[in-house]
Amino acid sequence: MRFDLPNGSSIQALKDVSLELKDGELLSVLGPSGCGKTTLLNILAGFLAPTDGKIVLNGNTVAGPGPERGMVFQSGALFEWMDVRANVDFGPRMKGMPKKERDQITDHLLETVGLADFKDKAVYELSGGMQQRVALARCLANEPDVILMDEPLGALDALTREKMQGLVLDLWKETGKTIILITHSVEEALLLGERLLVMAPRPGRIQKEYRLPFAERGVGSDLRLVKKSEGFAETRDEILSMIWEMEEEIMGRSEDVA
Ligand SMILES: Nc1ncnc2c1ncn2[C@@H]1O[C@H](COP(=O)(O)OP(=O)(O)O)[C@@H](O)[C@H]1O
Ligand SMILES: [Mg+2]
Repeated sequence: MRFDLPNGSSIQALKDVSLELKDGELLSVLGPSGCGKTTLLNILAGFLAPTDGKIVLNGNTVAGPGPERGMVFQSGALFEWMDVRANVDFGPRMKGMPKKERDQITDHLLETVGLADFKDKAVYELSGGMQQRVALARCLANEPDVILMDEPLGALDALTREKMQGLVLDLWKETGKTIILITHSVEEALLLGERLLVMAPRPGRIQKEYRLPFAERGVGSDLRLVKKSEGFAETRDEILSMIWEMEEEIMGRSEDVA
């Protein structure tokens, strides 16, 4: 993916990025700011057309957004003027699904994300964590094959974030969805990726790939224990050092420019 800038220069946001995902895989993507994570997700979502290469889903080349790919943003993507129920059943309503059927789906999903008692609340009455639960439920209501999340928990306080990480794992196991989750947090990437891509900047590329046991360990269990489990601290430190080096390099280069 190359962005051509108005001044005639260009930014190689992604270069030679190639990956294949299995049905039901949970992939986390980590990397310093500016390494192309959001660009990658936007291309997968069909919001951006790559300047070269292609995305294929179930044998079909992706040419734009589609209901088989659901997106959960960091925050602010709910319809503020609708209540919780109307947000969640927006997709099914647009498809023309009968009310009774829609209500069943919404009830089930709101229960799944722990918001059964909040159906009639306005979005602004909910905390940030609850709003992200609504966003997850709304995404699931469209029955996507793939869920794309761009730092979905990034705006939450530490405690809420931890709870939501557990919820993401439970949803992954319960629904069997393929999930791609972008995060800034090394711990989150370890916890929420049975497979983890570490990206590097300039040009944005895949630096290293890991297969990790922690997501599987975390399903239905205390994530704090998972963080203390075998291999977690070592892997975290290894990846932290890798990202530190990248950040140092970026800083060094921008000082050269200055
Ligand atoms: N629409 C755009 N026009 C020009 N440059 C862009 C655009 N979107 C992203 N970029 C550049 O592409 C690179 C990757 O950005 P982004 O995907 O947002 O990174 P990340 O999400 O990892 O922080 C950055 O250098 C960014 O400035
Ligand atoms: Mg981003």
